[in-house]
Amino acid sequence: MLKIGVLVSGGGTNLQAIIDNIESGYISKAEIVTVISSNPNAYALERAKKHNINAVCIRKHDYADFDGYMKAMENHIDSCGVELIVLAGFMTVLSKEFTEKYKNKIINIHPALIPSFCGDGFYGLKVHEAVLKKGVKITGATAHFVNDETDGGPIILQKAVAVEDNDTPEILQKRVMEQAEWKILPEAIKLISEGKITVSGNKVRRI
Ligand code: GAR
Repeated sequence: MLKIGVLVSGGGTNLQAIIDNIESGYISKAEIVTVISSNPNAYALERAKKHNINAVCIRKHDYADFDGYMKAMENHIDSCGVELIVLAGFMTVLSKEFTEKYKNKIINIHPALIPSFCGDGFYGLKVHEAVLKKGVKITGATAHFVNDETDGGPIILQKAVAVEDNDTPEILQKRVMEQAEWKILPEAIKLISEGKITVSGNKVRRI
């Protein structure tokens, strides 16, 4: 079993999609060993508890500096034996040292088709606001490995979603989650846990 640690900051619907796919047996070679929230009030923590999954809150402002925070994250992740770190709506940018230590062992779900609408400042609803402002007709989601460039790591899976004329950021966010995020994030975990992908430079290939 591949041991997964899921990092969250908010509602945790992507965490729920992972839990549901493990419980249904679609993901059969991975288990969640811990959920780490950056926010003590994140509903994602409740979701973890409801499914008897170890869940903790590790907050940046409880540490003297960013290095101390990153070290605390590393200590918890290593003590749980985590083999794959999944960022599921995690809103803190990780340090370069952290992403290098866990190279090709961290994945993220981004609510747009990278390289559009991504990078620093593009997170959560802000992504969908920017999509609507630009007037693009297609958006979507991307599951990718995490490196030291925000949203810049090797792309694992993408799925397109239509933008409709009367969309608000909230309506579009919901459609992107339902049609893309909740599908491709569990799928990426399934592929990785079954040893079905390789990474070479910025290219991910199915084997
Ligand atoms: C999701 O839309 C996720 O793609 C996005 O935050 C939301 C979290 O929802 N992540 C980012 O913007 C990261 N840059 P959730 O807590 O319900 O999974």
